[in-house]
Amino acid sequence: MRSYTNGVKGIILAGGTGTRLHPITRAVSKQLLPIYDKPMIHYPLSTLMLSGLREILLITTPHDQDAFFRLLGDGATLGIKLSYIVQDQPNGLAEALILGEKFLDGEKCALILGDNLFYGPGLGTHLQQNTSVQGALIFAYQVSNPTAYGVVEFNDNGQVLSIEEKPAVPKSTFAVPGIYFYDERASDFARNLTPSERGELEITALNNAYLERGELRVEILSRATTWLDTGTHESLYEAGGLIRTLQHRTGMRIGDVDQIARDHGWI
Ligand code: G1P
Repeated sequence: MRSYTNGVKGIILAGGTGTRLHPITRAVSKQLLPIYDKPMIHYPLSTLMLSGLREILLITTPHDQDAFFRLLGDGATLGIKLSYIVQDQPNGLAEALILGEKFLDGEKCALILGDNLFYGPGLGTHLQQNTSVQGALIFAYQVSNPTAYGVVEFNDNGQVLSIEEKPAVPKSTFAVPGIYFYDERASDFARNLTPSERGELEITALNNAYLERGELRVEILSRATTWLDTGTHESLYEAGGLIRTLQHRTGMRIGDVDQIARDHGWI
């Protein structure tokens, strides 16, 4: 069989109940909702494809898997290989690395959250250069509402002191976007995490496991990159408007998976 991986595989986590978007998400998965002219999942998928990753695992809730498969199939029309697995309960983002262990089969990975949108000139090239990490690589991005995210604390020399999940009193305004690069040990580390107070295996706990070993790199994502998450009515509406505005203004399409597959010569 043709090999699609160069030692790095992609995982998209599109589980969760989307409670903040009720009643919309009572019947439809959040990650299938439209962001202007495409389903949300196309955007994180396009980010992984721009990073050069072609072997991708899609993690969904049990009842949404069929719908995602109807949309994307096995990936052949995009020149990629898509696999599917379910997350039975919303046990936390880090569980993706445990559920994906067999799929990863000892390789490195990029994990992206199904509701995170990235857009920026040169982002694909930048990510391509970083997919193969030793330890872990995550990003930091300046936001106005850090309490909604994982928050990175830096010292004056730019060294990372801590990462806290949704702190009431954030130590900085740098949030951790939902794209993470891990080496071969991520599944092992994830299995050894203790669930948080809300009973979840937090991705921040996994990042801290790498930080404690001195093996976490945090790169500040330039302001030229747009990072949006789409978990609330407001942010969903804003994201749709932004994509529409950018596409109209530039004539270029954002998150167009077919276009990316053609550009890469995959189809
Ligand atoms: C999750 C993570 C958080 C991260 C965020 C990015 O939070 O737990 O650390 O900053 O994604 O979107 P959620 O938005 O799933 O609550």
